[in-house]
Order: sequence, then C-alpha cells, then structure tokens
Amino acid sequence: MNENVRIAVVGATGVVGREVLSALLDQGVPSEQLTVLASERSEAVELEYGEDTLAVEKTTPEAFRGVGLALLATPSDVSRTLGPVAQAAGAWVVDASSAFRADGTVPLVLPTFNPEMLGAPFKGRIVSVPSAVSSALVSIIAPLQKAFGVVRVQVTALMGASSAGVAGVTELEKQTAGLLSGRESEPHVFPHRIGFNLVPQVGPFMASSPWTEEEAGWTLEAARLFGARGETPVVAGTAVHVPTFYGHGLSLHVQLKTAAPVEQARAALKASPALKVLDGPAEKVYPMPMLIAGDASVHVGRLRTFPQAPEWLTLFAVVDNAGRGGALNLVEAGLRLLQRAA
Ligand SMILES: NC(=O)c1ccc[n+]([C@@H]2O[C@H](COP(=O)([O-])OP(=O)(O)OC[C@H]3O[C@@H](n4cnc5c(N)ncnc54)[C@H](OP(=O)(O)O)[C@@H]3O)[C@@H](O)[C@H]2O)c1
Repeated sequence: MNENVRIAVVGATGVVGREVLSALLDQGVPSEQLTVLASERSEAVELEYGEDTLAVEKTTPEAFRGVGLALLATPSDVSRTLGPVAQAAGAWVVDASSAFRADGTVPLVLPTFNPEMLGAPFKGRIVSVPSAVSSALVSIIAPLQKAFGVVRVQVTALMGASSAGVAGVTELEKQTAGLLSGRESEPHVFPHRIGFNLVPQVGPFMASSPWTEEEAGWTLEAARLFGARGETPVVAGTAVHVPTFYGHGLSLHVQLKTAAPVEQARAALKASPALKVLDGPAEKVYPMPMLIAGDASVHVGRLRTFPQAPEWLTLFAVVDNAGRGGALNLVEAGLRLLQRAA
C-alpha cells in the first residue's frame, strides 16, 4: 500500500468506526496516515491506536483535503452528504451505511464475495458495502448456491443492541440495570423497551410495504450481489432486536434446487474460507454470539434437513456485526481500492 495516502475514518467514535481502527492497526497502517473524524460532539476525544492516541476532529469539507481514502461509518443521512464531499476532494470512498446500497451506479461490494468489482471500471469513486446481516447471508448462500443451487432463503435475524450503534448499547445497559433495580425507563433508541424484551422492528418501516428497511435491504442486496452472477435466490425474513450487545444470530431455512444430505451441505460450507462450521450437537457445539467477538469468519451450525421436505436445509449462524459485518468490509474494500489507484 502507498504509505503516503491519508486515510480518513469518519464516524471513528462509533461501534463500527472503533472496529475500523482496530482493523487498520491489524493491517499495520501507521497512526501518522490516519485522520479520525466524527461529529462536533466528539471533537478532541482521544482514541487509542496501539501505542498511540488519535484526537478526533470535527468533520468538515476541509477535513478531506489531501485524503486518498475515506471510510464512512456514519448514519445514512450523514453518508449521503459526506460521500460526495469526500469524492469531490479526490478520495476513494467506502460507505458502511444504506445510503448508496440501492444506487445502481455505486458498486455494492462484499470483499469476500465479489472483490473483482473493485478493479473494474465504475462511475465515480464511491463504493458501498452490504449490511451486517446481508454480508453473513451472502457468505452462507454462496457455497450452497455453487454446490446445489438455491431457490429461496427465509431468515429470522436476532440482532444485538449494537446494531443501533453506541446509543443502542447504552440504552440496553441502562434499561437492564434499571429494571433489575425495579426502575422502568422510556425507550429512546428502540421503538419499545429492549431490556428483557424482543422487538420485531429494526429501523423504520418502508413507506409502501409492511417490511422494514432492514428487511427490504436483505432482498435488495442479495439481488444486487447474486444478480450480477446470474441466478438470484429470493431472500426474505424478519429482523428482531434482541437484548444482547454484540453479534447477530441468524435462523435460516434454505430451499436448495437439488436436495442434499446434511453431510454434503456441511462439506460445501466447510470449504468456504468465509465460514467456520461449529456443528457438534452431541458436544453442545454450535454458533453463539459469545463466541464470535473479533472472529472474521461467519459461524454456521445446527445443520438439519427434514425428511418430508428434503430440499430445505435448516441452520443457525452468527456474525460479528461490528467487525466482519461492518468494519472488515470497509477496510478490506478500501485497501484494495488503494492498490487499484497505485
Ligand atoms: N452497528 C452495526 O452493527 C453496523 C454494521 C454494519 C454497518 N453499520 C452501519 O455503519 C454506520 C455506523 O453505524 P454504528 O453502529 O457505528 O453507529 P454509531 O455507533 O451510532 O456511530 C456513528 C458515528 O457517526 C458519527 N456521526 C454522526 N453524525 C455525524 C456527522 N454529522 N458528521 C460526522 N460524523 C457523524 C458519530 O460521531 P459522534 O460520536 O460524534 O456522534 C459516530 O462516530 C451506520 O450507517 C450503520 O447502518 C452498522
């Protein structure tokens, strides 16, 4: 990588932004190459970066001067404004929000699935990465699609409070502690109380349909990612906020084109470098959020088929939403764009 390229991490104080810094440190990017940006609320906050400390700056158009790569870990309305600003300043931009995911002129790239898109010509300098749930879904579907064909996927996503950012984590902490001492508190971040509850609404509902934007995003992103390769499996399901902090659990029913015995499905999943198969029911081995922190693989397990409908494969998966499902996609895509630019 060109060591003179300045990298801006925008939203560096957030759930994803902090993981971006950790991933850049793992990649050996020196602190001198970094500019860390957030809103004016966080101006001068100090973030640890290995042995060094980085002072957060307020995001302004001037902050992008001399920046070669901007990694946006910001809310979608903020990304929608800042993406073009960073691009106009000459930076490559990779965005973690939903701001550009439906924009056909912006490549949607999951670095473990379609990294070739980062070397192909495209208009502009902005790239979008899929949501944490879509990243995990595509990673699981891809090897099954290749081996057996996939017609349809039904998913229930159990999403930890960090899916709603730092504010979501804080709200769950406060409500849990409060309720244990007999105190109720009003919800601010989630639509209802999240402490000791399940909330089957993640993000706003679509204006014209009963799906939430999160759920509609899975269908759209799977169609964009698989559509570019030919056949698109239909992906649909329900997103639920659950009172855990980190890690998303996915309960999946996958309709295969050709029925496959569990052993063959397990072998296909095991062969994928994006996945780790944890499937030993007799030893109580299966994916759980408590096992996922910092793991770059998506964990899959509880593989089952059902004699009456042998083409349906049932499984459970867990992804580190902030790391694999967010920061790693940003950093891997961004560093590849810099290789292209060199
Ligand atoms: N959390 C996940 O599991 C996950 C996974 C994949 C993708 N994503 C996406 O990644 C993005 C960030 O999510 P998150 O969970 O990290 O959110 P978060 O914890 O709420 O962090 C948001 C970050 O954006 C900054 N920000 C807010 N308004 C800003 C502005 N006007 N100018 C500059 N910076 C601003 C915040 O700075 P302050 O600290 O100053 O407020 C903070 O650093 C979202 O689009 C989300 O959909 C999230």
